[in-house]
Amino acid sequence: MISVIPNPLSVKELEGNFEFADGIKVSGAFGGAKRYFCDVLADCSIKSDQGKDFVFVCDPALGEEEYKLTVTPEKASVFASSEAGAFYGAQTFRLASELDTDKKSIACTEIHDKPRFRHRGFMFDVARHFFDKEYIKKTLDMMSILKLNTFHWHLSDDQGWRIEIKKYPLLTEKGTTRGSTAINSVGWSEHKEARINKPYGEGKFYTQEDIREVVEYAAERHINIIPEIDMPGHLAAAIACYPELSCTGKQIEVSDRWGVIDVIGCCGKQAIYKFVENVIDELVELFPYEYIHIGGDEVPKDQWKICPDCQAKISKLGLKDENELQGDFNNFVLAYLKSKNRKMIGWNEILDASTLSDETVVQWWCGEYKENGVEKWLEKGNNIVISYAPFVYMDHMYCMKDLPLFYKHSPETLGLDNKYFSQVLGMEAPVWTEYIRDTVKLEFNIYPRLQALSEICWSAENRKDFADFEKRLAVNVKLLDAKGINHAPKECYDCSSDEGRERQSVGWDLWAEDPYYEVKNFSKIQPSDS
Ligand code: ACM
Ligand code: ZN
Repeated sequence: MISVIPNPLSVKELEGNFEFADGIKVSGAFGGAKRYFCDVLADCSIKSDQGKDFVFVCDPALGEEEYKLTVTPEKASVFASSEAGAFYGAQTFRLASELDTDKKSIACTEIHDKPRFRHRGFMFDVARHFFDKEYIKKTLDMMSILKLNTFHWHLSDDQGWRIEIKKYPLLTEKGTTRGSTAINSVGWSEHKEARINKPYGEGKFYTQEDIREVVEYAAERHINIIPEIDMPGHLAAAIACYPELSCTGKQIEVSDRWGVIDVIGCCGKQAIYKFVENVIDELVELFPYEYIHIGGDEVPKDQWKICPDCQAKISKLGLKDENELQGDFNNFVLAYLKSKNRKMIGWNEILDASTLSDETVVQWWCGEYKENGVEKWLEKGNNIVISYAPFVYMDHMYCMKDLPLFYKHSPETLGLDNKYFSQVLGMEAPVWTEYIRDTVKLEFNIYPRLQALSEICWSAENRKDFADFEKRLAVNVKLLDAKGINHAPKECYDCSSDEGRERQSVGWDLWAEDPYYEVKNFSKIQPSDS
């Protein structure tokens, strides 16, 4: 039996096994998929130039990411019309064989498969805590095994700037480093939380060389990267380097407080427009993809209300209010991106200005869709990506959002009218890293959620069944164990037991008081004290 995640569209079991202890002879179309598959075989010390036949066949009747995989005792064949389809066919074979006990055989089968959504995304906040390029590559590799194809890279925030921009060297000389770090939120609102009182972040950024290396690695795995530079809110790290970007021009420090900070970019002065153009100029050279994410979330406009420049701009343009000033800023960024042949995506607060230009993709994370502007946006024929926080925020502990709940995240569950389904490009799950300082906790929080994400993004509604998913998951965690990846066990990720329900009742308080509670109690691997 084939136990792969995500569940394929259809699986027919055939008689016998495809045994390949003597090697696999790889041939046929699709040079990229072939090369990748041979590398995977080499990693498992399996020869790729002798033994059982494995053929990649071009079938133009299949769709962009669609494939068929036919495995008989003598031969395995992947049919596809594109490199991506061929790649996914090979990944299914690979996963099935790696899950096999001896890794040298798979049960014969006939699989037909294609994804439900074209955007299958994981968002990683590397601003609050940094994870180096090798770790990003390790994560991309797992994503590709799970057929996730979009890596949303949250590269800047109030507490740190993490990408080299040659025109603004201070961003990575100074903007990477905050003075201290809050490690829990007891007394958070009064800033009485426990802290690590030493600077964090110096030198913690990706050089442009690093980015190019990651982009190349992702391309081999059919993963698109969406870089996010959050603006005009969540921009304090940049403002600490270039104070002229804010309304007051006052010198501030890179923020050492979590949450929403009222120092934001000034959209009444020219400086931010030049900054955005220059940063985008470098981003488009580095990231050869369709979309750039401009954030746009959580923008408190108190300073704009008293800033002479912001107010003058509102008057001059005849704008209704500060929200429309953000709308004007967003439209400026969109036009600039368009001039570079790129599209824009932003968090759903960019809809607070009804003037937002069409062609933007909105990422829905908060609020009811009938109230936050998303429904109106869909009515106008526009597209969205869904990352609804109450279900899929992976920084939240399992006792707040357990895996069965995560698995339910879908346009259907969120009550979206089915006439809009074709405007849902896909779904994404973010991990915010305020309280995630190391890979032990990171992995505990994101695995096995990424397995669930993979299935809800890829598998057709009628192929989704949590009980069946869990059976396959029990087999699939072998792969995580083999790769030394930490993951939450069932007694943690499933809160349906009495003990689980009891844990759920502590909710937010516990998350705030002890960020490592779940890891300490449920993982064999313990977090570091850093
Ligand atoms: C967000 O969680 N602020 C997008
Ligand atoms: Zn201003």
